[in-house]
Amino acid sequence: MSQLELELARRRTFAIISHPDAGKTTLTEKLLWFGGAIQVAGEVRARKASRHATSDWMELEKQRGISVTSSVMQFPYRECMINLLDTPGHEDFSEDTYRTLTAVDSAVMVIDSVNGVEAQTIKLLNVCRLRDTPILTFINKLDREGRPPIELLDEIESVLDIQCAPMTWPISMGKRFRGVYHLYDDIVYFFDPQAEKGTSEIIEGLDNPRLDELIPDQAEELRMEVELVRGASHAFDQEAYLAGRQTPVYFGSAVNNFGVQSLLDAVVELSPAPQPRATETRLVQPAEAKFTGFVFKIQANMDPKHRDRIAFVRVCSGKFERGIKLRQRSTGKTLAVNNAITFMAQDRNTTDEAWPGDILGIPNHGTVLLGDAFSEGEDLKFTGIPCFAPEHFRRAQIRNPLKMKQLQKGLQQLAEEGATQLFKPIHSNDLILGAVGTLQFDVVAHRLEFEYGVDVMFEPYPVATARWLRGDDLAIRALADKSGVNVALDGAGDHVYLAPNRVNLAMTQERHPEVKFLETREIH
Ligand code: G4P
Repeated sequence: MSQLELELARRRTFAIISHPDAGKTTLTEKLLWFGGAIQVAGEVRARKASRHATSDWMELEKQRGISVTSSVMQFPYRECMINLLDTPGHEDFSEDTYRTLTAVDSAVMVIDSVNGVEAQTIKLLNVCRLRDTPILTFINKLDREGRPPIELLDEIESVLDIQCAPMTWPISMGKRFRGVYHLYDDIVYFFDPQAEKGTSEIIEGLDNPRLDELIPDQAEELRMEVELVRGASHAFDQEAYLAGRQTPVYFGSAVNNFGVQSLLDAVVELSPAPQPRATETRLVQPAEAKFTGFVFKIQANMDPKHRDRIAFVRVCSGKFERGIKLRQRSTGKTLAVNNAITFMAQDRNTTDEAWPGDILGIPNHGTVLLGDAFSEGEDLKFTGIPCFAPEHFRRAQIRNPLKMKQLQKGLQQLAEEGATQLFKPIHSNDLILGAVGTLQFDVVAHRLEFEYGVDVMFEPYPVATARWLRGDDLAIRALADKSGVNVALDGAGDHVYLAPNRVNLAMTQERHPEVKFLETREIH
């Protein structure tokens, strides 16, 4: 095997998805801790705490800085190199999350055993489904009195429409929670919140007499339940998991470190190595010798005055070496990449090499765009990086008209970064901003002020939702003639319908059957 094949076979690149408060931050931290990437638990949660006060601009600044360093966490575990991609917890930044999910090969879904499947879980799972991303499930907070495990599995199956294959089974929950039984390894892990790694003892076999010694009043109940579960649930099926049709389920308590190691082992043993990526012209295989990668996220750097940005590149094929000459798709220019960074644990290091599945941070001054691609010469456009129809709209009003140019430039650049979407109605000179969550407007206002020196006000704008228009030129022109006040161009020059309300949208769609109204579009 070549070094490339070896390195790529040991890569695991995944993200954690969950509804806020299910325990994503806690689990992330524990995974890092079990992976030996951090010494003291508490660091990640401390950083999260500072993300909360988002109204204060200092906090916004901090938050941006923090999310650069913690957006990708790389650490070795067993024979593997793990890349854990962070997704913003706040749902106002969910677009960022959606795009990050295009850069992973699998995901871990965290479910709160008390709350079950929640709204944000459903949304995120639907995004994973766009690419049939394989999903491992971690049912968290078993130390609390949650819902019966069977009921939780049923809910996942019916609401999320994915088969569940329990891999471990909990021994009761809440006050009576004693541990989990691994259905395939035939091992019982005993839970002890006081033990250093959450586990007090590990025994082999359900018929082990030690089981009766340790949990005399629960052993028989466990044996019966396991028999029932084996009979009534789906057996693990590797192929169905890899196709995104089945999710292996693990139980635990992240805050108590319990069940986390089994989950990390599952990432190594079950989840896929880097997968091929689709482009407009062909499928790129990770083992191809030549380097390719695409940009799934752009993040402003710590120092806003310098307008530095970091483009996050998912390596799709080949080997990255410091100084490699890469062609950037959007400019067609070739550049020598000397200053790319990787993300070992929390520190950013200038990297010498990277392999498929790894994430590189490429510093730039705004020349690299979302959805951009890098290659050793070939013109490749990776597909599937989505842009979502915004649900909140504002009109940008400038206090000092002399700063109009800066405002336009700033908004254009922030739109390219994915911080907001920009729409220009064809019949007016308005600048309309669209966002998936309103907090995005605060960030944009703040950044316009500090990075572009523009003092801007945002006024409500009477639009309920946007749809990208697809159809032949004549059809779109006909629509623009009739409903021009509602038609705009987005930052990329695409026609968009800005609907004042749902009824209007439905009527316009009915009147123009030859035009498609899309809720998402691919980034150019
Ligand atoms: P998130 O990133 O998904 O939003 O969740 P986060 O990890 O911040 O966890 C949300 C809350 O759930 C935290 O409590 C956390 O301590 C708690 N939690 C996480 N895992 C478990 C678990 O296994 N059992 C129990 N009982 N709780 C868990 P908090 O009150 O918001 O914060 P803190 O007081 O613990 O700092």
